[in-house]
Amino acid sequence: MAASPATAPTAPNADIRVKIDRLNKDFRTSRGVTNAVKDVDLAVARGEFVTMVGRSGCGKTTLLRMIGGLLAPTSGSVQIDGKELWRGGRVDSAAISRLGFVFQESNLLPWFTVVDNIALPLKLRGVPKVARRARATELAGLVGLGGFERSYPRQLSGGMRQRVAIARALSTEPDLLLMDEPFGALDALTRERMNLELQRIVGETSSTVVFVTHDIPEAIFLGDRIVQMSPRPGRVSDIVEVDIAKPRDIAVQTEARFNEIVRDLRTKLDRED
Ligand SMILES: Nc1ncnc2c1ncn2[C@@H]1O[C@H](COP(=O)(O)OP(=O)(O)OP(=O)(O)O)[C@@H](O)[C@H]1O
Ligand SMILES: [Mg+2]
Repeated sequence: MAASPATAPTAPNADIRVKIDRLNKDFRTSRGVTNAVKDVDLAVARGEFVTMVGRSGCGKTTLLRMIGGLLAPTSGSVQIDGKELWRGGRVDSAAISRLGFVFQESNLLPWFTVVDNIALPLKLRGVPKVARRARATELAGLVGLGGFERSYPRQLSGGMRQRVAIARALSTEPDLLLMDEPFGALDALTRERMNLELQRIVGETSSTVVFVTHDIPEAIFLGDRIVQMSPRPGRVSDIVEVDIAKPRDIAVQTEARFNEIVRDLRTKLDRED
C-alpha cells in the first residue's frame, strides 16, 4: 500500500489555525527574479503537527518566514485564526506575538543563564522577574534541563542549547510553533532523543507546529501530515498523511508502514531531480 496522499490542501479538521492562500514570494536580485514560493495553498488545523520537506533552495525557509511574520509576501494571504497576518507589507504585531520560532541555530544570549534565556520573551513583555523566572524554571524542567537553570550556553551541548531555544519559544505559550531545521546540527542519537522530547512537549502543550526538516524519517516520525515542496519555483508538490498512531516511539521506524512512507517520499523527491 502506498502512502495516502491528501490532495486537498485543507486539513481534515475544520478548526483551522493557519490558512495560506496563493502565497507568493519573489526575490529580485542583480541576477534577476527568483520565484522562491509560488502559489502555495495550505491549511493547518489546531493541534496539528505539519512537517515540511524538499530539496535545498525549494523555499521552505521563505514560506516559514512569511507564516512567522518575518518576511512580507509578494502576494497572497496568510491567516492565523482567521485574521490576516500581512496587510500592505506590514505585519499584524498582535498576531506575531502569539507565535514561537525555533531556528537551526539556538541563538541564545551567551551572557544569560538558561533560565534567563528562556525568560527573555517574557521579560520583553514586561512580566515581573519572579513570575518569569518561575515560569522559565518550569519550562527548563519540561525540556529536560532541570538542574541546569543557572548554566550558561557555553556549558551546554548542542542538543541542550536547542532545548533551551524550544523552551524559550514555548515561554509565551504560542498558538503556533514554527521550527526551521531545529535539529539539523545534532548527531543522530541526540536528534532521536529530541524528536521524542518534542513529541512529548507538543502533546503536553497541545501546540500547533510547522516543522521544516531535511530528514525524511524525522518528518514522518513527527508529522501528522508531510508537505513536500518542489523547487524552481517553490511549490507544494504533495501532501502525505502519516496514518500511524501517536504518540510514536523510536521502534516505529522499523515498522513496515513507516518504511513504506519513507520509500514513497524518497521516490517522489528523487523524481524532482
Ligand atoms: N533574501 C533573499 N534574497 C534573494 N534570494 C533569496 C533570499 N532568500 C532566499 N532566496 C532564494 O529563494 C530560494 C528559496 O530559499 P529558501 O532559503 O527558502 O530555501 P530552503 O528550502 O529553506 O533551502 P534549505 O533547505 O537549503 O534551507 C532560493 O533560490 C534562495 O536562493
Ligand atoms: Mg531553509
